[in-house]
Parts: sequence; structure tokens; C-alpha cells
Amino acid sequence: MASTTDVTSVHRSDARKAFYERIAEHNLAPLWERISTLVKPSPRPATQAFRWQYAVIRPHLVASGSMLSVEEAERRVLVLENPGLPGQSQITGSLYAGLQLLLPGEHAGAHRHSAGALRLILEGSGAYTAVNGERTPMERGDFIITPSWAWHDHGNDGAQPVIWLDGLDVPIVNLFDASFSEHHEASDFPVSRPARDCEFRFGNALLPEDALPSSLSSPLLNYRYGRARETLTTLHRNGPIDPCHGVKLRYTNPLTGGSVMPTMSASLQLIPAAFQTASYRSTDGAVYLVLEGKGRSHVGETSFEWAENDIFVVPGWAPQRHVAEREAVLFSFSDRAAQEKLGLWREQRGKN
Ligand SMILES: [Fe+2]
Repeated sequence: MASTTDVTSVHRSDARKAFYERIAEHNLAPLWERISTLVKPSPRPATQAFRWQYAVIRPHLVASGSMLSVEEAERRVLVLENPGLPGQSQITGSLYAGLQLLLPGEHAGAHRHSAGALRLILEGSGAYTAVNGERTPMERGDFIITPSWAWHDHGNDGAQPVIWLDGLDVPIVNLFDASFSEHHEASDFPVSRPARDCEFRFGNALLPEDALPSSLSSPLLNYRYGRARETLTTLHRNGPIDPCHGVKLRYTNPLTGGSVMPTMSASLQLIPAAFQTASYRSTDGAVYLVLEGKGRSHVGETSFEWAENDIFVVPGWAPQRHVAEREAVLFSFSDRAAQEKLGLWREQRGKN
């Protein structure tokens, strides 16, 4: 026999359900039923830790080469879609990532969009990206930015296919419903500056007298791998080694010292052979690309091995540890720049 308390609670439950149905007709909802999913005590991202093995996915990217025409080359990208965000074309809750293939002789038409883009070059030689009329070469390990609303086009004048990782802040732009895009009337945006001009103007710890920021993004379009790698090697030799990161360097805007773009941060780190990083977590979910070496990562309850060119994603606030079997160089990018501006970014070192 049901107690008086049970009967009362069933009656209250039925009354609430009927109430919710009545208010739903007026586009109203009860906060008390939803607050735990709206205001969380700590981050619970839908993003899952995941690794893409380059040896497995590369053949599919190559196969896409014969499926799309030259005119469609700018869209020949395989999206790295997080298994926790199916159908959303996102690698984290705030970032898009994909692998793009440009075949010899192909040119991807000039266009621009509100979303900022970064690229990390994996394969090929002799290709270029042009940003607002300035060409910069694409060589393995180079980190290239195409800021928000900057005209850009790509061309492969080399003999080999070129493959690069694209990272964009598309989900952030779409969160604000602030997306615009357009194609240029000419396939190639008119060349208006000498190739690599920005590297000499802004990339040597020397700046033109009176240089001031003219946008929220770095004026340096290409952070060449050779110099970055040499810096990692030297700082590794000179020490000290950070227990959580090994030797980790931020790519910066030379005019401000801040992030390369207003929404996305990018880094390059060296983990010495046999080094195991201490546990670390931060609120920015990060995408990693293995440029050199071999190792293993433990991310939350998940762990996976990685080798050269593999890509993996670490959800925000997930404890991460990395072990390098062979000296490793990892490129990574995240939305840390945006979170810092909004006062949201947090980190926790060595506690998990
Ligand atoms: Fe683009």
C-alpha cells in the first residue's frame, strides 16, 4: 500500500508535468529542471579524446584527389570530426580541423571568410599560400595563418601533392552568428607584395620603426619550421625542462606579444626521449599534431600511442600526460586566446 508521502509526490510530479506542458506552449521552460546541465560545477565537454593515425587516414585523403575537380580543390578536405560531436564538423566544441590535399598544378580560388584559419604543413614542397596578395611558401612544419576576413588562395607549383592541417574557429564564429564569406572575382588574388615580405619585416625580432598593430592578428603569416625547430633544440640543451610541457613555445604576434589570432593560440613543444610529462589540464581543448617522434598520451581514462603525422585531440579540462619514446615535437592549437580574453581560461598543473 502506497504511503501518504508517495501519493503526495506522485501527485506533485503529475502536476509539474502538466505545468511544463502548459508553459511549453508559450515557449517557456522551468530552469529548476535544467540548471544542472546549464551551470556545471566543472567542465564536461562532449569532445572525446581521440587519435587519428596518419597512415590510416592518408589513403582516404589521396583517394579524394580523384573525386573532386580542380575547381573544387579549395574544398578537398577531410574533416577531422570528433566522435563525441557526430555530424557537427568539429574537432572540439569550439574548433574545426581538417586535412587538405592540393595536387600538383592545382590552385584553390581566392576567397575570404569571417573565420580565422591556421595551417600546419605536413607534406609536399613548392606550394604557396597567398594572404592579401603576399605569397608565402608551404614547407613541412611551417605554421601559416590566414586571419579573419583576409583574402587567401593556395597554389601547388611543385611536383608532389601537398597536404596540410587546417584549423579554424568556425564554431566560435557560428556561436555568435557572425559568419560571412565571399569569393574573389579573380581566381588568384592579385599579387601586391613581394613573396615572404612579412618574414623579413616582422619575423626577425626587428620591427619597422613606428610599426603598430593594424589588426587583431599577427602580421607575420608564416612561422617557418626550421627556425622554430632550432630554437627547441637549443632550449632543450640549455634547459630547464618544464615538468608538464617539456620545452613548449608559444607562437606570438611580434607586434603585441599576444596570440597570433584573437581566437586561437598555437604552440610547438619538444618532449625529450624517455621524458614523461607531469599531469596537466586546462580549460582549452587542444588539437595536437605529431611532427616528429613517437610516444603515448594518457588523456582522462583514455590512452593512445602516436607516431609522426598522427593527430590527436585533448578535451578541455581532461588531465593529460605525454610520454615520448623517441624525442617528439608536437604542434598544437586551441581556443586559449579566446578564453583568456573572456576571463575563462584556467589551468591545473600536476594534481591529477
Ligand atoms: Fe579559406
